[in-house]
Amino acid sequence: MKKNIVILGTQWGDEGKGKIVDYLSSKSSYAVRYHGGHNAGHTLVVNKKKIILHLIPSGVLHSNVIGIISNGVVISIFDLVKEIKMLEKNHVFVSKRLFISHAASLILPFHIAIDIAREKRLGVNAIGTTGRGIGPAYEDKIARRSIRVGDLKNEKTLSIKLSKIVDYYNDQLVSIYKCQPFDCKVILKDLLEAKNIIIDMIQDTTVILNNAIKNKKIIIFEGAQGSLLDIDHGTYPYVTSSNSTIGGVITGTGVGPKNLDYILGVTKAYSTRVGNGPFPTELHNDIDAYLSKKGNEFGSTTGRKRRTGWLDGIALHHSVQLNSLSALCITKLDVLDNLEEIKICIAYRNVNTLEIYTSVSFDNLENMQPIYETHPGWMKKTSGIKKIEDLPHAAKNYIKCIEKIAGIPVHMISTGPERNDTIVVKHPFL
Ligand code: GDP
Ligand code: IMO
Ligand code: MG
Repeated sequence: MKKNIVILGTQWGDEGKGKIVDYLSSKSSYAVRYHGGHNAGHTLVVNKKKIILHLIPSGVLHSNVIGIISNGVVISIFDLVKEIKMLEKNHVFVSKRLFISHAASLILPFHIAIDIAREKRLGVNAIGTTGRGIGPAYEDKIARRSIRVGDLKNEKTLSIKLSKIVDYYNDQLVSIYKCQPFDCKVILKDLLEAKNIIIDMIQDTTVILNNAIKNKKIIIFEGAQGSLLDIDHGTYPYVTSSNSTIGGVITGTGVGPKNLDYILGVTKAYSTRVGNGPFPTELHNDIDAYLSKKGNEFGSTTGRKRRTGWLDGIALHHSVQLNSLSALCITKLDVLDNLEEIKICIAYRNVNTLEIYTSVSFDNLENMQPIYETHPGWMKKTSGIKKIEDLPHAAKNYIKCIEKIAGIPVHMISTGPERNDTIVVKHPFL
């Protein structure tokens, strides 16, 4: 039996990772967020009740699961406290089963202010960030000036570090961006108040996880964003500021690669992207309007309309390679139920040279135009189907085509937002 599995996105985020982590967590002991921050929005729907999580791992609706926010995550303590309270209102109590790494860097109000100010100044060239301060917080981590979660335990150190970093940001905010400066005392007071709620959760999560592995516990590592938003391997500079591909698990938790037994790539049956940047299979027609409406493609974090397009097999194959994926989970198959024709990109053509490519550099997609294979639609409802054999013939063929392009099997299929609208072809833990 496999013990430790990773669930990550193969596209530009919002593939439905949260739903799948929630579904599989009934069998796990730990669920771990290992990178990103509250830029993520992971939607869980159980008995028509919807919960969106941004920082807390999506396994925590199961009371058997211990949630871990490990060192690779950038944490806004204020948003974390809000999320803990939101869960309490929904009768989910995590305060004794959620642990936060002492080594995670904090996102503070000036990170958010500078993220927003920079984007505003970039105008049409903006990245289209979520405005959550993610980039600036990771910059501080790399520049070795972060305030880390563990610093919250020592008021004196916290106060000294905060004063330095507030000066650093106020200089830029005031002189370059003409924004209001932050008052260090106000931030300190707010932090000390929020700290009281989470102080007992602060731990060395690397030790917790490696002990759990020693004790043969089952762990789900939950990716955020998607592989094409990875800082190194994505569509740079239109990416997020962390490694959303597989390496992020290892550096972001302190769990070694030999302890990862299985890597599931969550893939939407079509494509979406929120924010700016290249998107070769993007649509601007009635199919875009259809996918947007039927798929409810509006951001779980910012509410922005997601751009939509056909599934990109070249991008998918790139993600399979980058992550050593074991298998795929295809989500939102039901969204395609009413389409007469479904296309899938099987190669790119350079519009200038007319050369054809089946693998490319994802930081240079300029001039790449998709070449499609067209499949007949199935024009039947797929939600509620429990076995792959019972899917319409054309839907099974579409899944087979994805397997062929990706070169790996499909082990799960999601046919609706509800936890139980899920087909398991081969259970990831078996
Ligand atoms: P995540 O960031 O990868 O967890 O995905 P999001 O939660 O941001 O976006 C996925 C959206 O699709 C959410 O609204 C989910 O409730 C919904 N969803 C997930 N799986 C399915 C599915 O199979 N079918 C449909 N129709 N909706 C789904
Ligand atoms: P989940 O986990 C989709 C995108 C933003 C922007 C770029 C950089 O829900 O799949 P950032 O705020 O990270 O600096 O923004 O990354 N982005 C996401 N898109 N889903 C997400 O998370 C995202 N998190 C960041 O839209 O293009
Ligand atoms: Mg999302």
